[in-house]
Amino acid sequence: MTGRRETLLRGGSQGIRVSRLAMAVGAGIFVGCIFAFAYPHGFFRSETPQTQQQRSSLQVSSAPCESSERTNLLKSEVNSLMEKNAGLKKQVRELTLKLQQEEQGKDQAQKQFLVLGKQHKAGPVGTVKSLRTNPTVLPDETVNPRLAKLLKKVAINRELIVALADIHVRDMLNVWSDSIKRVGIPNYLVVALDDDTLKYCESKGVPAYKRDPDDKVDSVLRTASNHAISGLKFQILREFLQLGYSVLLSDIDIVYLQNPFDHLYRDCDVESMSDGHDNMTAYGYNDVSEDPKMGWARFAHTMRIWVYNSGFFYIRPTIPSIELLDRVADRLSKAKLWDQAVFNEELYFPSHPGYDGLHASRRTMDFYLFMNSKVLFKILRHEHNFAQYKPVVLHVNYHPDKLPRMKAIVEYYVNGKQDALKAFPDGSDW
Ligand SMILES: *[C@@H]1O[C@H](CO)[C@@H](O)[C@H](O)[C@H]1NC(C)=O
Repeated sequence: MTGRRETLLRGGSQGIRVSRLAMAVGAGIFVGCIFAFAYPHGFFRSETPQTQQQRSSLQVSSAPCESSERTNLLKSEVNSLMEKNAGLKKQVRELTLKLQQEEQGKDQAQKQFLVLGKQHKAGPVGTVKSLRTNPTVLPDETVNPRLAKLLKKVAINRELIVALADIHVRDMLNVWSDSIKRVGIPNYLVVALDDDTLKYCESKGVPAYKRDPDDKVDSVLRTASNHAISGLKFQILREFLQLGYSVLLSDIDIVYLQNPFDHLYRDCDVESMSDGHDNMTAYGYNDVSEDPKMGWARFAHTMRIWVYNSGFFYIRPTIPSIELLDRVADRLSKAKLWDQAVFNEELYFPSHPGYDGLHASRRTMDFYLFMNSKVLFKILRHEHNFAQYKPVVLHVNYHPDKLPRMKAIVEYYVNGKQDALKAFPDGSDW
């Protein structure tokens, strides 16, 4: 293009021809500008055969002063400027986006990911699987060397059952630990919240651990409001994860009938027992809500799932898991909230304006294997094939008379007393 323009300019450098040519060029520029701006996509685009004829006559007549070539030249210049402009706009947009990401700390995460793993092309249909098994953190023994030493002895395959207990739940702790011993599970640990519980566990040969009295978390416990205590479990768990262990967190109102470690998938950040009582409530369903005033669009579909039970879940030592513990502990320290509700909200709510969701991976445990007491007492025991179900654990979470129901469960499943459960109503009588 440039070379051609030079030739044109050089061509008009002598005598009258010069002024004539200058006029022609001036007129050409003028017409060209009008054409370029009034018809940015070209004057002769969507043309009829008739205008095509006009065009050829136009070309012939304008050939001496070369205005058509000037027009084309200017048009292409305008186009290239517009292209440059679009290119600049794109650059500005990319920079703005980068700045936004940088501010939100997301660019950092993307860079981190690129350092850790290679970028891959998406494979063919049916071969693409997203990441749900997040990498585990590098164990950091400095966070608690004493616990690190203890866990080396207690854990198997870097995993163990952990329960928090104080002396008020001693009788349940008794049934709980007896059931674990009976099944032959060696990798479990009681976090004793007081000296009496520690002594009790030691006297029974139950692996136990009490935190150092000057520990920050323990001083929270001593001085604390109720809010702080409900968050304690999540703060204590954090250290186990930081040390690189997977924890099966267990409440004390649970009877073990098989080894749970034989029934885990271990593919998600959190694998949890459900408060649900059938396939829909435990695993999720599409609940249709109706608003008749909307007529044609009166049905709104909603995603529903019964909450995960924050008293029995398996948590892997990953970044999303640790962030979950931190988020739950933080919210519980600031307001009087139910820890199970907070646990589920953090696990389930997506990102939205003003909120970054956690996006941890989740798996619901089989509710017939990891069974809550509603499934047992309200549903399953009345069914003809009740005997075919072999639960791994039974959690007396739905009933306030926990200790007698735990003992009855042991009688039924361990000692074979067929009528051991009969005396108990389906639900509580308030
Ligand atoms: C519940 O789901 C399981 C598989 O997850 C299936 O085998 C069973 O038939 C389902 N039960 C009902 C009542 O749909």
